[in-house]
Amino acid sequence: MVFIKSEEEIALMREPCAIVRDCLKFVEERIRAGMTTKQVDTLVHDFLKANGAEPSCLGYYGYPASACVSVNEVVVHGIPDGRVLEEGDIVSVDLVAYKNGYHGDAARTFRIGKVSPEKDKLVRVTEECFFKGIEGLKAGTPLYDIGYRVQQHAESNGFSVIRAYTGHGIGKEMHEDPSVPNVGRRGTGIRLAAGTVICVEPMIVCGNYRVKVLPDEWTAVTLDGRPAAHYENTVVIREDGVEILTL
Ligand code: MF3
Ligand code: CO
Repeated sequence: MVFIKSEEEIALMREPCAIVRDCLKFVEERIRAGMTTKQVDTLVHDFLKANGAEPSCLGYYGYPASACVSVNEVVVHGIPDGRVLEEGDIVSVDLVAYKNGYHGDAARTFRIGKVSPEKDKLVRVTEECFFKGIEGLKAGTPLYDIGYRVQQHAESNGFSVIRAYTGHGIGKEMHEDPSVPNVGRRGTGIRLAAGTVICVEPMIVCGNYRVKVLPDEWTAVTLDGRPAAHYENTVVIREDGVEILTL
C-alpha cells in the first residue's frame, strides 16, 4: 500500500534528506585513495550522529554499518571493511538517515583519482539515468515510465540495468511501496499520486545485469565482475513535477 504524505510529513522529511545530501558532499570532499571503506563508513556515521540523525542502515536486518560502500564490481550493499581505495576505483556510497520520525535516502558514485574512460562514462550515464528517469514525472505518471526511461538511456549508451534491486517508497519506513524498477514498459504500472515519496536509484553496469550475493549475505557483485555504478535521490511527486529532497 502506497502512503501519500501530507505537507506536514514532507516538511518533516526535509531534514533527514538534507542531512543525507550534506553527508554525501562531506564524503565527496574527503574520499581518496588510501582510505579504507571502513573509514568512509566512520565519516558517514559520525556526520549523521553530529547532525542528530540515526544511521538507518545500522542494524537493519542485521546490516553491520551506517553506509553501504560498493567498490567497482560491487553493485550495492558493500559492507565497509579494511579494503583500501585505489586510484581508478569507482565507489558508490549509499546512506539513509532517520530524523523527525522519517528516513531520507541517497547514493552517489565517486571516482577515485583518474578512472578508465569506461568507468568515467558509466558514472556519468548512471547519474544521467536518474535525471532521465524523473523527466516529465508528476502526479498521474505511470510508475513504470521511470524504468522505461532509465533503461532507454542506459542501453542506448551500451550499458545494462540491474533488475535484482529496485527503488522504493520511503517515509516512516526505509522501504515502503511502491517498488520502483529501473526497467519497464512505458504507460504501465500504478499512476503515481501527488504526495508519494520515492527513491529513484538506477544501478547500471558495463556488462551483464546478472548479480550474485556474496556469502556475507549482503554484498551484491556483478556475475561477470565488470563495474557497476549507482545514483539515488529521494523524490516527492507533485501535481506539476517532482521535488528532489536530497539534492
Ligand atoms: N539505500 C539502500 C536501499 O535503498 C539502503 C540499504 S541499507 C541496508 O536499499 F541496511 F540495507 F544495507
Ligand atoms: Co534506497
